[in-house]
Amino acid sequence: MKLLVLHGPNLNLLGQREQSIYGCQSLVDIDKRLRMVAQQQGWELNSFQSNSEGELIDAIHRALTENVDGIVFNPAAYTHTSVALRDALLAVAIPTVEVHLTNIYQRESFRHHSYISGVAIGQISGFGIDSYLLGIQALVNYINKSGRTS
Ligand code: DQA
Repeated sequence: MKLLVLHGPNLNLLGQREQSIYGCQSLVDIDKRLRMVAQQQGWELNSFQSNSEGELIDAIHRALTENVDGIVFNPAAYTHTSVALRDALLAVAIPTVEVHLTNIYQRESFRHHSYISGVAIGQISGFGIDSYLLGIQALVNYINKSGRTS
């Protein structure tokens, strides 16, 4: 099982950025935790963060040639703006779970719309780092059920 975790813009500042909203864990802490869980389960997990929409699109394209089985994606602010990221996910057709640390529906109305959710298997929003952990588990269950591993 080969998994890719993608983090969008400004998530590199987790731990410093708006701590009252996003908590005090850094992205390094989150990635470390995800890698540990994946290792325990025998899954290969790589993560990538970028502040650039194009680099995230390239990472999604690379996932195809690298035979990634599933993607857990926190597109951050691009969730609410990016048709290009949505199209990239459609193009590669790799099962993707959209995750958010915060409950985007409890926040400003511009965060209530996601361009990604319509092309994701599902969305997990509002559980902090557990959104990623739940996302990975849901993704693996989905892939196992659909019998789709490389
Ligand atoms: C976020 C929610 C987005 O609205 C916001 O732009 C982010 C983080 C989250 O994880 O809660 O940067 O994706």
